[in-house]
Amino acid sequence: MPQEEGFLSNIYSVEGSENLRDYYDQWADSYDSELAQSDYRTPQRCAQALARYLSDPDAPVLDFACGTGLSGVALYAAGFRVIDGMDISAGMLAQARAKGVYRKLVQPAPDAVLDARGQGYAAIVASGAISPGAAPPENIDGALDSLAQGGLLVISLNDHALDEGGYKERLDAAVAAGGAERLEAARGPHLPALGLQSTVFVLRKV
Ligand SMILES: C[S@@+](CC[C@H](N)C(=O)[O-])C[C@H]1O[C@@H](n2cnc3c(N)ncnc32)[C@H](O)[C@@H]1O
Repeated sequence: MPQEEGFLSNIYSVEGSENLRDYYDQWADSYDSELAQSDYRTPQRCAQALARYLSDPDAPVLDFACGTGLSGVALYAAGFRVIDGMDISAGMLAQARAKGVYRKLVQPAPDAVLDARGQGYAAIVASGAISPGAAPPENIDGALDSLAQGGLLVISLNDHALDEGGYKERLDAAVAAGGAERLEAARGPHLPALGLQSTVFVLRKV
């Protein structure tokens, strides 16, 4: 399928959380193959970033907006064995379930903001997850609020999120307020076949 006819080219024009959920439901069957055509690299980069700071394979990790599970597969390949996934789209979750790497998969309401307080996650990973065309930026605060002191947030922000604004600024605000420390920020390939990059941030809750 030519790229301009794929789901990816239209995702940024979808408005409203229910429409977004329905769009991903329709995209679920072809998501992996479409992303593979553009050599999607961010899930591996996020998983490898987490592995630099978390060595315990049994540490519980939440894969926020896990989609079809490409990020869970990357986390599993990086050594993690207790991975929960969360996504608003049942279609994407069905694909994720078939990957066989998740302990648990949950489906919040489309307009819900991430709240995993008290669930004991050592890390939350948001790979390609919080962005225009994906979960909104208030989930950054939800993720940080969900972690206990010392917990890790690994989040990728692609060029669209960085250009639009309102995403990195939330990370910077959390660091400036003393709620988190930034361990690294690494720019690299996101969808290299489309010339898109992302920055993978690692924050530790203070
Ligand atoms: C671009 S996909 C990324 C999926 C996966 N993390 C990956 O790297 O392939 C974005 C995902 O965010 C999910 N999503 C959108 N809004 C969300 C929200 N508010 N809460 C949880 N998931 C959401 C969509 O259903 C979709 O599966």
